[in-house]
Amino acid sequence: MPHLIAPSILAADFGNLQRDVELINQSQADWIHVDVMDGLFVPNISFGFPIADAVGKIAQKPLDVHLMIVEPDRYIKRFADAGASNITVHYEACPNLHRTVQAIKELGCTAGVALNPHTPVSLLEDIVADLDLVLIMSVNPGFGGQHFIENTYKKLHDIRSLSSMTNPKLLIEVDGGVGANNVTNLINAGANVLVAGNSVFSAPDPAAAIAQLKAAK
Ligand code: DX5
Ligand code: ZN
Repeated sequence: MPHLIAPSILAADFGNLQRDVELINQSQADWIHVDVMDGLFVPNISFGFPIADAVGKIAQKPLDVHLMIVEPDRYIKRFADAGASNITVHYEACPNLHRTVQAIKELGCTAGVALNPHTPVSLLEDIVADLDLVLIMSVNPGFGGQHFIENTYKKLHDIRSLSSMTNPKLLIEVDGGVGANNVTNLINAGANVLVAGNSVFSAPDPAAAIAQLKAAK
């Protein structure tokens, strides 16, 4: 499966959000990554439903919603209503993860689980077969523009081998500090979805930056 590119609108220009979403629509990107932060699960507040609804209306690519919030069960339907194709919750925020994953699937969305850098892949052993997507955080969640954590490569190998028997079609997403300098190594380590915020929107030509990530081998 060719790898997928999901630019993160957290790094977009919120004064020109429609322009930047349309740029992604016209680009070689596959998804639009939507980072929702509540100021509790992570030490930052990004945006909520008004922005998700607005992006949902103009997006012509699937919305890849990354929920960095506590008790996400309360809001998954609302993000599905906003147009989310994928809903990813954090393992660390879900004491009833199996129930949460089923609820996301019942909404007709792709169910994803994200792991913080300190959370071992082995904790997914009894749920990986039920998942559509695992998001490996390669930075501590809460901010764009952070440095990539090298231990991510080991975690990619871990999730690739953990899922190889029970769920070989699992989507493996990497999020944080991804750019032209590490995209090839990440693909070779087993990632098939790459989130990119600053490496896209701080580039002189974001569409070209997306094309470069998409063409990476
Ligand atoms: C961080 C978010 C990431 C972030 C990526 O908590 O989940 O999606 O926006 O931004 P970059 O690519 O700049 O690290
Ligand atoms: Zn994210």
